[in-house]
Amino acid sequence: MISVLFILCTVVSAVKWDAPAPYDPVWLASVQTFPTATSPTETKFGWGWVYESDVEFRLFTRRNANDYQVLKTNDSASLKQSNFDFSKKVKVLSHGWLNHGESPMPMSIKQAYLNVSDLNIIVLDWGIAANVNYILASYNVASVGRLLTEFLNFLIREGVSMDDVHLIGHSLGAHVVGIAGAYVKKGPIDTITGLDPALPLFSVGNKNARLDKHDARHVEVIHTCGGYLGFMAPLGHIDFYPNGGVRQPGCGTDFRGFCAHNRAHMFFSESITSLVPFTAVRCKDYDELYYNGSCEGTGETLIMGGFLIHYGKDGIYYLRTNAETPFAQG
Ligand SMILES: *[C@@H]1O[C@H](CO)[C@@H](O)[C@H](O)[C@H]1NC(C)=O
Ligand SMILES: *[C@@H]1O[C@H](CO)[C@@H](O)[C@H](O)[C@H]1NC(C)=O
Ligand SMILES: *[C@@H]1O[C@H](CO)[C@@H](O)[C@H](O)[C@H]1NC(C)=O
Repeated sequence: MISVLFILCTVVSAVKWDAPAPYDPVWLASVQTFPTATSPTETKFGWGWVYESDVEFRLFTRRNANDYQVLKTNDSASLKQSNFDFSKKVKVLSHGWLNHGESPMPMSIKQAYLNVSDLNIIVLDWGIAANVNYILASYNVASVGRLLTEFLNFLIREGVSMDDVHLIGHSLGAHVVGIAGAYVKKGPIDTITGLDPALPLFSVGNKNARLDKHDARHVEVIHTCGGYLGFMAPLGHIDFYPNGGVRQPGCGTDFRGFCAHNRAHMFFSESITSLVPFTAVRCKDYDELYYNGSCEGTGETLIMGGFLIHYGKDGIYYLRTNAETPFAQG
């Protein structure tokens, strides 16, 4: 079944899509029970191909902070009649597996940004293709990414500069925005933030199918469930490892890792409005973090997340957080 999907995907799609990487079969079997009821759309996505009509681009601004306006690729009228403001920055938010456009990620991040400033927030809702079993959802990522590429190419043709665009994705959504960024015509995109990019079935070796540092000018990653639901290996220019990046305080045993995995977007949304910063120290190298689970640091610091993008020395950063909200320790 998988190999059939694989062949069909490579025929229809230009995205290189390797066979799934080996992954802990016990974990994979345990998450195959999600969603608990087989989604009616699983049959529909049996071919691993997602159509334009399966995703929605929802615009929020301060003028419509709660009621979104739907933007359509290549539909200039929908853009012109909307509250989209060409003089303002664009943030595109992509949720992950088992989530949708109304989930805490993206909603809490949207809310936080609009609280600080009037921006064009575009929520990519790919809930139909994300609420299927994990294997299928991970196969849908490449198509959803390409649909986002087409949408971004449309914004460019309408006059948006990619210098003003920031893509933010959680879990599988981090690979969606990575793939979208890689294929944009007049790129590179200014910034991509990957919130605990999904690990299962994605491999470090296959850069074309996952988020990597070539997908934008500046790629920042927050790792919170490394080695389980999220990547442990650094993927961006700057990689933050809150509490070591594997387990998170306040999450208990967290057998499937869902709690730690979600901490990434909770830290990020808090950081946008927080007066207390998430200050991280720069590690000597990845080994220091990997083998010790923490870093003494080189003396350099950088703020994780925040409303403004904090460009800094590329590298690996470590910080500690509180076990519950507010998480930032300053
Ligand atoms: C949008 O327009 C471009 C350029 O004309 C075309 O290549 C692309 O296929 C169109 N996409 C959609 C979804 O209509
Ligand atoms: C921003 O958040 C603060 C604190 O939660 C709240 O009091 C305020 O109403 C919010 N402002 C906007 C514009 O949403
Ligand atoms: C781990 O921490 C110890 C003590 O702080 C330090 O001496 C050692 O160099 C660190 N290991 C690595 C790989 O950096």
